[in-house]
Amino acid sequence: MKDLNTTPESSLQIKGAAHQNLQHDSAIKQVQGRADYTDDIPEPAGTLHAYLGVSTVAYAKIRGMDLSAVRAAPGVVTVLTAEDIPGVNDVSPTGKHDEPVFPTEKVEFHGQPLFAVIAETRDLARRAAELAKMDYEVLPHAIDAVSARLAGMPMVTDPLKLERGDVDSGLAEAPHRVRGRLIVGGQDHMYLEGHIAFAIPGEDDDVVVHCSTQHPSEAQHMVAHVLGVPSNAVVVNVRRMGGGFGGKESQMNLFCAVAAIGAKKLNRPVKIRPDRDQDMTATGKRHDFVIDYDLGFDSEGRIQAVDSQFAARCGYSSDLSGPVTDRALFHADNAYFYPNVRLTSCPQKTNTVSNTAFRGFGGPQGVVAAERMIEEIAYALGKDPLEVRKANFYGEPGDGRTLTPYHQEVEDNVIGRIVEELEESADYQARRTAILAENAKGGVIRRGIALTPVKFGISFTATWYNQAGALIHIYNDGSIHLNHGGTEMGQGLNTKVAQVVAEAFQVDFDCIKITKTTTEKVPNTSATAASSGSDLNGMAALDAAEQIKARLVKFAAESRGIKESAVRFGPNQIRIGEEVVAFAAFIREAYMARVHLSAAGFYKTPKIHWDRAAGKGRPFYYYAYGASCSEVAIDTLTGEYRVERTDILHDVGRSLNPILDKGQVEGAFIQGMGWLTTEELWWDKEGRLRTHAPSTYKIPLASDRPRIFNVNLADWSENREMTIKRSKAVGEPPFMLGISVFEALSMAVASVADYRECPRLEAPATPERVLMAVERLKAGV
Ligand code: MTE
Ligand code: HPA
Ligand code: MOS
Repeated sequence: MKDLNTTPESSLQIKGAAHQNLQHDSAIKQVQGRADYTDDIPEPAGTLHAYLGVSTVAYAKIRGMDLSAVRAAPGVVTVLTAEDIPGVNDVSPTGKHDEPVFPTEKVEFHGQPLFAVIAETRDLARRAAELAKMDYEVLPHAIDAVSARLAGMPMVTDPLKLERGDVDSGLAEAPHRVRGRLIVGGQDHMYLEGHIAFAIPGEDDDVVVHCSTQHPSEAQHMVAHVLGVPSNAVVVNVRRMGGGFGGKESQMNLFCAVAAIGAKKLNRPVKIRPDRDQDMTATGKRHDFVIDYDLGFDSEGRIQAVDSQFAARCGYSSDLSGPVTDRALFHADNAYFYPNVRLTSCPQKTNTVSNTAFRGFGGPQGVVAAERMIEEIAYALGKDPLEVRKANFYGEPGDGRTLTPYHQEVEDNVIGRIVEELEESADYQARRTAILAENAKGGVIRRGIALTPVKFGISFTATWYNQAGALIHIYNDGSIHLNHGGTEMGQGLNTKVAQVVAEAFQVDFDCIKITKTTTEKVPNTSATAASSGSDLNGMAALDAAEQIKARLVKFAAESRGIKESAVRFGPNQIRIGEEVVAFAAFIREAYMARVHLSAAGFYKTPKIHWDRAAGKGRPFYYYAYGASCSEVAIDTLTGEYRVERTDILHDVGRSLNPILDKGQVEGAFIQGMGWLTTEELWWDKEGRLRTHAPSTYKIPLASDRPRIFNVNLADWSENREMTIKRSKAVGEPPFMLGISVFEALSMAVASVADYRECPRLEAPATPERVLMAVERLKAGV
């Protein structure tokens, strides 16, 4: 393979080549309100609005559904039920057929969509949706993983087991053994723009759906399936999302299906946009987990054996719970070598909304369990948790400490260097000593500090997803039209891919038009997910650019009668031997000579494979690493706390765009911190989510940001694999840096009992939980 990762000299003269700091291409438009989202698309005359009618019980047989009042309500044009579905009544992303658009026999969670009202205005549709009279035969429900399991409810998909070594002897022979349980909460995505789909009918079977999905191809296939038409009748378009965070990987399917069914039935455009409360109750979230661990270790704190079970609240259907719970196991080692290990998942069915992808995709729940086990060892042995971490890090090839529980070798380990550098730059040792001394004075305010590492596997664990396509046209005025299969959700993917193309053609970034994602241009794409957007689409775009370049080089050489090696691109020009031609002029010339100026590029990740039944393979192409050090102060009388300082060192290989990557690291850290501190999902006994709006569900505010916040990228890092320009994925890994806040809180709490005991905080560690932990430790119970 030709190494296309070298950076030509002339790139320095180009505005916006790879590795340069370039602001997000939509930044100014977003601030000025000129960036278009789905709801900004002008509505054609005759556009109608849909709203979902939802269930008010958690589990019941549907005896009857009286929709007469709904139909009679002002402005209502029609009501869609299962009977209006021409094709298959299912939007399950994994083909399990367990997720009806509208159920017919039973409802399986409080808030489940049952029908859709279509009316002249959204407000009228929303009011009418309240008027259904449902006749339910209510059945006993179970809303959390533990009670559902006790009630004998099935799993939503087959569990996974990862095993290596001899766990039972490892545990039995270990000098120390701890058993514990960690309860870690879920999380709502809280994207600024909620779910939305806008379907415009065309002739014959055709329909165009504009929507906010991370996975346009799946939405397309799903709409086709529900309408009973081939995929070629359906076009799905996404210009950008106002955030997705995994919440729009599969959850948009239902909204697209409803809009499309309505549009085809009425032959009028139909838009559906739930309000925030309905978005929060009717769509899936991060899985909360109950994690049981049995841990054996020696007196140095070295882990000898781990046996752990991961039960997740999956909700009523499988959705992506299989791969999410798998990824929890893949990350239950975090950066640590487990000589003997057994990890099992329990993707538990519950009578709640079906949980879904969320930044990290189950990985954070695995990592937080690994970090809890480290804490357990540290408190049991009276050591600094950082010392225990270091004793357990994966090793170097050849030292017998590189094999993961899924039998992949860790070949690119840089966690030692990352942690060492951060320990130094954050002045960890001195600050910890000072904090211990301050806490020893016994004040009301207690402090804690923690330095936690992250290792995150990059690639979709569903191997076939690791492919991408791109389409580049150069018009005869020299302007470049770039399209690829990825979607923009704020992460800066379009900017990065355009930088790659700018560098390939050696033209300024501004010469490239970034266009909406559409299933018409690149088919069969994967979700923009698993942090792999720029890895995959960057490579596909580079492939397309190189094809066009090869044709241009051939033409240049032939037309001048010189060798191809004498043709050079850039900056903003082509050098053909001694002759220099402006890029646009040369393109015009190539067009006149009938050179093909368009190409479709393709990429698939090499080296990866995964045998789920055997629990063995190389699911990840490489790993991304990082570490964070946080200091907190808690008020032991109220449980309130604040983050005084956070230092981060994160590895993104050779960054495609350092300022965008830094933004990703900062945002991910804050979102991870929110997950473990203030964001609490709470269901009542009826299975009704009571935290369904920003009034009751608290994401971090600007004022919750660490008082001192030092974020750095490991500028010495370079991906040892041949990724795009030797960069590494950045989207998800830094989410888990938020764990340092959680553990610093734990240390502050532990101080009230002189660190004799691991406080075993539950997540989210809300002020109430912190206070309860303080009280419990003080009372010595
Ligand atoms: N950043 C912003 N601003 N908005 C988002 O919705 N999603 C995250 C991450 N960063 C997200 C984000 C998630 S869950 C993933 S998987 C990646 O971006 C997806 O994009 P990438 O693969 O291009 O990094
Ligand atoms: N990560 C994120 N999204 C996914 C994955 C994954 O590994 N597999 C399927 N969808
Ligand atoms: Mo991200 S959870 O893989 O969309």
